[in-house]
Amino acid sequence: MEQTLVLIKPDGVQRGLIGEVISRLERRGLRIVAAKFLAVDQKLAETHYAIHEGKPFYEGLIRYITSAPVMAMVWEGPNAVQAVRQTMGSTRPTEAQPGSIRHDFALEVGRNLTHASDSVENGVEEVNLWFNTEELVNWARSIDPWVFE
Ligand code: RTP
Ligand code: MG
Repeated sequence: MEQTLVLIKPDGVQRGLIGEVISRLERRGLRIVAAKFLAVDQKLAETHYAIHEGKPFYEGLIRYITSAPVMAMVWEGPNAVQAVRQTMGSTRPTEAQPGSIRHDFALEVGRNLTHASDSVENGVEEVNLWFNTEELVNWARSIDPWVFE
């Protein structure tokens, strides 16, 4: 089953949107696999955002993600990467589709509330970066046949 890393970033946590984000992913039919609430250290932030090193927003991005705790989760389902990106909405909240999290709750790209893996390969890599194998729960949900064809 395809897996994706979801982070509720410091602004989402501070604004009390943990429940809202989880609720939307649950409602979509995705299945939660792992979750933890943690303060992100410099090293994890730099590894996670290594691809953005050197870009003008990089320093601010590292400060943002380390500024307060985050809620880190793994979600799975058919096409989980694409489905979750769609539920989050475009990176720039003013370009996000109405009904998406970033449209409904955010205004600025540097305070866009969530992170979600952008490809299946990055999903695997990010899940391994943020979670140990023992933290990933392999389970069957009783409603799965009503959501997964
Ligand atoms: P994410 O990785 O957080 O899911 O977001 P994304 O794929 O939609 O966007 P990405 O291009 O990977 O950028 C990562 C995060 O960096 C911040 N950003 N700021 N000021 C800017 O121009 C700018 N561009 C990106 C955002 O917080 C974005 O989510
Ligand atoms: Mg990204």
